[in-house]
Formats: sequence, structure tokens, C-alpha cells
Amino acid sequence: MIIKKKWRILTVGDGDLSFSYSLFKYHRPAHLTATVYDSQSTMTNKYRDNALRSLQQKDVNILFNFDVTNPNSWSTLQKNKFDVVIFQFPLLPAFQSFQEYKNKAEKISVNTLNRQLLRHFLDNAFQYFLDPNGQQLCFITSKDVKPYREWNIENALHKQSNFYYLGSSLFDIQNFPEYKVRNVDRDKHVRDTKGRTYAWTLQKNHALKKELEAPIYQEENCCSMCRAGPFTTEFDRNEHNASKKHQQMVQFEALWQALINRF
Ligand SMILES: C[S@@+](CC[C@H](N)C(=O)[O-])C[C@H]1O[C@@H](n2cnc3c(N)ncnc32)[C@H](O)[C@@H]1O
Repeated sequence: MIIKKKWRILTVGDGDLSFSYSLFKYHRPAHLTATVYDSQSTMTNKYRDNALRSLQQKDVNILFNFDVTNPNSWSTLQKNKFDVVIFQFPLLPAFQSFQEYKNKAEKISVNTLNRQLLRHFLDNAFQYFLDPNGQQLCFITSKDVKPYREWNIENALHKQSNFYYLGSSLFDIQNFPEYKVRNVDRDKHVRDTKGRTYAWTLQKNHALKKELEAPIYQEENCCSMCRAGPFTTEFDRNEHNASKKHQQMVQFEALWQALINRF
């Protein structure tokens, strides 16, 4: 992940505030506002070992109950004041019951709902959080394993939008001492933290592009949505297209397309 000291940063969906704390302590951005989806008591009960006090001691602005999809929860946030908004390892909270799953996800799929969360994050960040005269960058860090790789982050999220996908960089947790990647619902610390940070912007030729890796699997002989290939023969390509994995992705893409057509 690329971080520059002159940036004013907003973090979204921090689990136990350890990412924001590490960012502030070891990267010294010009400004940091940290936000947590849960209430303060839910967060401190869920993650006994959290960075709330350490961050408060550094006078960092912290907002709880911050749902990136719901403007009513952003009341005290200073709008359009940030250079970069960061969402580390986003994931929808687990459904509380089978009934809730049936109501919310059975038809549309959990995959689409997670994409929707990321798209709302990007839309709202560009419209309400980022300074139009600033860097205008949104970062999402995620893993290149199932189910996250099935969100087709590099190709799907900016479809039919006014922002551009810029590229990605390795997320090296060694650069973020004291950060513990948290499980969304439990006091668990996710150990395998290999990830990539993906970047979007409103500026097509943003200077950061040169420092990022271009999207991969984009060539003709690859399948970009499955991140597969290169296929050396027509047979390989057809075999891939007939595979369960590809068929599943075709279905996810169709559900996603149907949803963004309604945006
Ligand atoms: C896998 S956890 C990662 C937590 C933390 N970012 C980290 O890196 O340790 C996913 C996080 O996404 C947050 N989240 C889910 N839906 C959200 C929403 N609508 N707005 C803000 N955060 C959300 C959850 O609260 C949870 O903390």
C-alpha cells in the first residue's frame, strides 16, 4: 500500500482500530479520521484487545456507528475534506438468522451484496468524503482468494460509474506494525493477511498510476473475471469456459449487471 505523509486520510470499517492506529503511528499522515461500523461498546466487547485508547491518546478523530452505505450515520464527519479513503478487508457482517439470509441474499447472492457494499463505498467516497481539489483516491485492500476474488474487483466495481480503476499494489503487513486484521464478527485475528490494495480515482491520468501494477489477466487469451489464463489453445479456453468456476462467475456477473442497471 502506498501512503504519503501529505495525505488527509479517512479509514472506513476499521474493526478494532488497530489499522488506523498503525497508519497514524508509523506513516504520520497530515490528518486521520478513523471510523468503525459498530458502536463503541459493541467494538470494545467484541475485540477486547483494541486500539481505541491508544488512538484517543493521539487525538485522532474517531467515529463509531459509521455505516458507509448510510448517510444518516455520517453526521459529524467533515464532508469533502479527504485525499484518500481506505477500506481494509471489507466484508458484510454475517446474517443473524436464516430468515435474514433468505430476505436479503437468497435471490441476489452474498457475492452481489458484497460488491454492492464496495460500490456504495466508492460512490459515497467520491461524492461526499473526498476533496474535489485533493488527491481523490479510494483504496480497498482485499485477498486474492475465494470468496473475495469472486468479487471481480479490478473489472466490475467501476462499471457504469464516473470513476476509474487505477491499479493495485501489494499490501505488506510488515509496513503496518501492531495492525491485526480482524474477523468481521468475532474476536479472531486473521493470520493469513496477504492482500493487495486496489485504487480508484476520478482523474483518468492520476499520477499514482505509475506507481501501481496495471490490472492483470486482461489479454485476449485470458479470462479477466476468473483471473485465469493465459490459455494457449482454443481447447484450453473452451474447457475453462465450460468449467463450474467460470459458469459460477458468469452468473455472478449477470446478477451484478442487473443490480447496477438499477443504480
Ligand atoms: C473482515 S472485517 C475487517 C475489519 C478491519 N477493516 C480489519 O482490517 O481488521 C470487515 C469489516 O467491514 C466492516 N463493514 C461491513 N459493512 C460495513 C458498512 N456498511 N460500513 C462500514 N463498515 C462495514 C465490518 O464492520 C468489519 O469491521
